[in-house]
Amino acid sequence: MTQKRRVAILISGSGSNMVALVKSMQDTDHPAQPVLVLSNRPNAAGLVKAEALGVATAVVDHRSFEDRAKFDAAMSAALAEHDVELIALAGFMRIMTDAFVESWSGRMLNIHPSLLPLFKGLNTHRSAFASGMAVHGCTVHEVTPALDSGPILGQAVVPVLAGDTEETLAARVLRQEHRLYPAVLRAFVDNANAARTQRIALSDPDF
Ligand code: GRF
Repeated sequence: MTQKRRVAILISGSGSNMVALVKSMQDTDHPAQPVLVLSNRPNAAGLVKAEALGVATAVVDHRSFEDRAKFDAAMSAALAEHDVELIALAGFMRIMTDAFVESWSGRMLNIHPSLLPLFKGLNTHRSAFASGMAVHGCTVHEVTPALDSGPILGQAVVPVLAGDTEETLAARVLRQEHRLYPAVLRAFVDNANAARTQRIALSDPDF
């Protein structure tokens, strides 16, 4: 078998997508392996979950650096130390410099909790709710310097139901994030070019 691709997952919070990705890579046939979970927050709950799953962790606390370039340099050092080949952002709440993003061009994915190009940035569930749309969802895309705008690799759609609140809607989307991100990561590692053209489209089983 060829060498498994070495993946780092970057988090800032609870890390539920990270857990879904790590578990998916536990499959012996999987073409990738999680070699590092890196957080910019020392108290991110996801760090404890990563340790419990036996994945190496690192903290690069953005508050310790005077600017983004120095923060990115410290992240680059941690990634190099673990020979990382591919980055999966999973609830990583820091904007990175264009230079850092460009250095990972074609090798960095993100999950965003909306059907891009709708609702870029923060508060996506509130925006979806306020829009009056009947559907909402999540997107996995390649990361480019323009925020939440890189090529779309996969999307999952959920209904907005009568009686939903922002919280129930967010939870419904998150369940689909945990299906979508592992599916896209695997397809991307298998063949990035094919993943770019044969995008994955999932829908909530309750539709
Ligand atoms: C997810 O909704 C993800 O789409 C967004 O931040 C949230 C992270 O959740 N970028 P978790 O840390 O994976 O539980």
